[in-house]
Amino acid sequence: MKAIPFCALLLSSLLTSGLYAQEQNSSLQQAYSKHFMIGTALSAGQIQGKEPGTLELVKQQFNAVTAENVMKWEIIEPVEGQFNFAAADAMIAYAEANNIKVIGHVLLWHEQTPDWVFLDDKGQTASKELVLSRLKNHINAVMGRYKGRIHGWDAVNEALNEDGTLRQSKWYKALGEDYIATVFELAHQADPKAQLYYNDFNLFKPEKRGGVLKLVAALKAKNVPIYGIGEQGHYSLDYPKLQDVEDSIVAFKNTGLKVVITELDISALPFPEPEKIGADISLNMKLKQEFNPYADGLPKAVSDQLTQKYLHLFELFLRHSDAVERVTLWGVNDNQTWRNNWPMKGRTDYPLLFDRKNQPKEVVQQLIQLAQSADKTKK
Ligand code: XIL
Repeated sequence: MKAIPFCALLLSSLLTSGLYAQEQNSSLQQAYSKHFMIGTALSAGQIQGKEPGTLELVKQQFNAVTAENVMKWEIIEPVEGQFNFAAADAMIAYAEANNIKVIGHVLLWHEQTPDWVFLDDKGQTASKELVLSRLKNHINAVMGRYKGRIHGWDAVNEALNEDGTLRQSKWYKALGEDYIATVFELAHQADPKAQLYYNDFNLFKPEKRGGVLKLVAALKAKNVPIYGIGEQGHYSLDYPKLQDVEDSIVAFKNTGLKVVITELDISALPFPEPEKIGADISLNMKLKQEFNPYADGLPKAVSDQLTQKYLHLFELFLRHSDAVERVTLWGVNDNQTWRNNWPMKGRTDYPLLFDRKNQPKEVVQQLIQLAQSADKTKK
């Protein structure tokens, strides 16, 4: 009998077992390609290739990238008129070379914005005209440089208080309540093809969600070019309730806008002051070991809970994939995640899909299978 080469045997057994099909779809971005984009955020070090294996992993698993920090005002324009584009340029070059969409983060936010923006040359509060001209220059310079190359921008970040009212930020004080519409309009002029999002945290909370709905209604009444709502998604094992997430997605979908999950991570640690849950980056609580229970490793029971929470959330996103266009994780791996240092510096957290050595957690394969079974029911 003629010997059948080993590789042919392997292939045929893979084909008959169905494993081959799975291999073909063995990355998150491929598995979810019929449903929504799968993104991640990249830190400055990761962009520079300082973390072994990360850029290789990202191009396999993700098809969208957001700069975790390097496109924020304090980094990209630290001094008036002096732009620091090097890191953003590098991220965009990497993304374009690998067919990955680029998400801009962020045009206007009250955090990570230098003080000079709001001061005149005497160090006094700058006039409305001066702040507005700086905002215009900033948007035109940054969006102009990358015109046509950025899929979507988080145009305005975190403009609402927890009760849904407008935050009395420096932007609000300088420009008045129309400033949100102004940003969207300036951004649209600078790069008409870029999708523009309003991005915020805790939108699963009914009062804050109500604030977004009011804002969207006002913007739409004035024909302001807003494309979608970004739900950040800084969650934990204890919150939010799935029903609240679903209610927010449905409410946003009903406005006719798209929904993007922009900064998903699920902390495995207890939140030290539960009334402050959210993503207010100014929180800086003193390290207490009672809030750092898994410094030596995550117990299996807790990691199973994390798996379940990810699966339930993705199942929800899949059910609403007519509106949900992208799900971006806020980081690649547990080594680099900001949750190790927020809201308390120096903890050991486990909020992402890849572990400290960039190895996929068990949940990755399960998320892939979840998308594959959704494909089957879709047919
Ligand atoms: C965070 C980054 O992950 C940290 O590295 C940085 O020190 C602070 O900002 N909401 C946002 C993100 O929109 O830009 C924040 O990112 C997390 C909360």
